[in-house]
Order: sequence, then C-alpha cells, then structure tokens
Amino acid sequence: MSARIATIGFGAMARSLAAALARHGGGPRVTDCLLRPDSATDLPEGVTACTDIAALIAKAPDLVVECAGHAALAETVPALLRAGLDVVVVSLGALCDDALRAEVMRAAAEGAARLIPVAGAVGGLDLLRAARLAGLDAVTYRGIKPAGAWAGSPAADAVDLGGLAQATVVFSGTARAAALRFPKNANVAAAGAFAGLGLDATRVELIADPAGTANRHEIAATGAFGEMAFSVTNRPLPGNPKTSHLAALSAEEAVLAVFAAGPFGADAAPRR
Ligand SMILES: NC(=O)c1ccc[n+]([C@@H]2O[C@H](COP(=O)([O-])OP(=O)(O)OC[C@H]3O[C@@H](n4cnc5c(N)ncnc54)[C@H](O)[C@@H]3O)[C@@H](O)[C@H]2O)c1
Repeated sequence: MSARIATIGFGAMARSLAAALARHGGGPRVTDCLLRPDSATDLPEGVTACTDIAALIAKAPDLVVECAGHAALAETVPALLRAGLDVVVVSLGALCDDALRAEVMRAAAEGAARLIPVAGAVGGLDLLRAARLAGLDAVTYRGIKPAGAWAGSPAADAVDLGGLAQATVVFSGTARAAALRFPKNANVAAAGAFAGLGLDATRVELIADPAGTANRHEIAATGAFGEMAFSVTNRPLPGNPKTSHLAALSAEEAVLAVFAAGPFGADAAPRR
C-alpha cells in the first residue's frame, strides 16, 4: 500500500505536492491535511481534511509535511513529533526562535521521531554540511529580489524602493537579525545558517534590484575544504507568486527520499 502523507495546510505548496505525488503513481500519496477550522478549501479526490491536530494524529499518517507557515509550525510540529510522527518542515525560519527550536528537538527525542528540514528555495546545503565537518571560515547568504517584492517589509523604510537606480542592500547583518527583521524572508537564511555556521555567524545581505524580474538566492562559503558559491534564480510556484517552484519541488524530493528505493534517482525509475 502507498505511504500516506498528511500536510499541515493545503495552500499552493501542499496542492502542488499532492498533485506531483499523484502523478508519480504507486509511491507516497497525500491522503490527509490539517486545515484551520474556519478555512474552506476544495480538496482533490482522495484527500481528507482534519480541523484538529488530535484527529490528524489519530489517522497515523506515515509522514507529515508542514506547508503552512511559521505560526503553524509552532502550533503543530511539537505535538506531531511527540506523537511519534516524522515531519518534513518547509517553514524553517520559525526555528530561528531558540525556544521553539529547543522544544521541537525535545519533542523529536521524546517521540523518537524525525524532523526533516527542506532546503526549500535554495541549494548547495549538502556541500555546506560536509564542509563544516572540517571547519568553515565564512558563510554569506544574499537574497536578491525585484525592488517591488520588498514592499511592506522594513526595506521600504530603509530605501525608496520606487526610486532605486541600481541594486541596493536593504539589510546587512546576521542570519538571526535577518530572521527577526524580515520574517517572511527567513526560511532560506535559516536553511543556510543551520547547514553551516549557525544563526549568529552567518552573514546575510538582502538586496532590492530595480531591474530584477525574479528572486535570486546566493550562498558563498570558505573554509578548510576550499571555497564554494551557489546561485539559483527561481520561478514562482503557480498558485502563489511568493513561493518558489523549487521550494515545492524540494518538499516533494524530501518526501520521495524518505520512501526512496535506492540511490540512483532518475536512473533507477524515470519519474516524469
Ligand atoms: N523553505 C523555503 O524556501 C520556503 C519557500 C517558500 C515558502 N515556504 C514556506 O511554505 C509555506 C507554505 O507556502 P504556500 O505557498 O503553500 O503558502 P499558502 O499561503 O499558499 O498556503 C499556506 C496554507 O496554510 C494554511 N495554514 C496557515 N496556518 C495554518 C494552521 N495553523 N493550520 C492549518 N493550516 C494553516 C493557510 O490557510 C494556507 O492555506 C509558507 O508559509 C512558507 O513559510 C518555505
């Protein structure tokens, strides 16, 4: 029988995940989701909604995927882990809160469950994790977005977003400070920090580019291993222009990896 996946939330990312897993056929399937009691959404065939966490836990899914945001992670993930359910999390920025991160780690230990963070809209993190074993000297994350994409954030107070003539740094500081000031941009900064030098030693620059048309993420690092630079320019996910398509693919890949049959990826069984 196919592994049963439950999602927290059923927005653009969960919808994309459910459709993609259904296309693979035979593998894990999204069968359940946790919705807020007041939210109405049309669900695809085969997906059932719960509106409280006890009901979701009672369904004993094989894996849960949080795709609902920072507050939802804080509200649901500790209880799921404590109940022994493995959880993939996409809203990593929430874990910049030291107390929540400690609670989540405690819950995972108590429930003997796994917390599986995704790389999300970025990449190169496997390299960072390996490189840190020999010592990293510096890790920098740069997030570059079209100027208009920063509207409504503290960047709008720092610069005149509509009047920029060139790409301009709107924040420079640690990953921890970036997550506090720009919580909506914290997921990628957190992923880079957790893979490398941590929240206080990872440098973050956020940049508004008046000529930009897409979101770009860059991670650069130096250390005993040598040096690395990774850059990705993302297309948006159909259904939510604020979420990168890659972030949804990253959640899909994390789910497939949990139930993977072997190490040969596309060469073992073509997926699309
Ligand atoms: N790691 C990354 O690179 C990355 C990139 C993009 C998005 N994300 C995260 O993924 C999340 C989901 O993205 P999306 O595009 O699907 O967003 P979305 O807004 O389309 O969907 C989120 C859904 O979650 C639901 N929700 C919120 N709180 C909930 C709760 N407590 N219980 C149940 N449902 C709840 C909302 O009603 C909404 O339907 C984002 O909030 C963001 O934190 C991570």
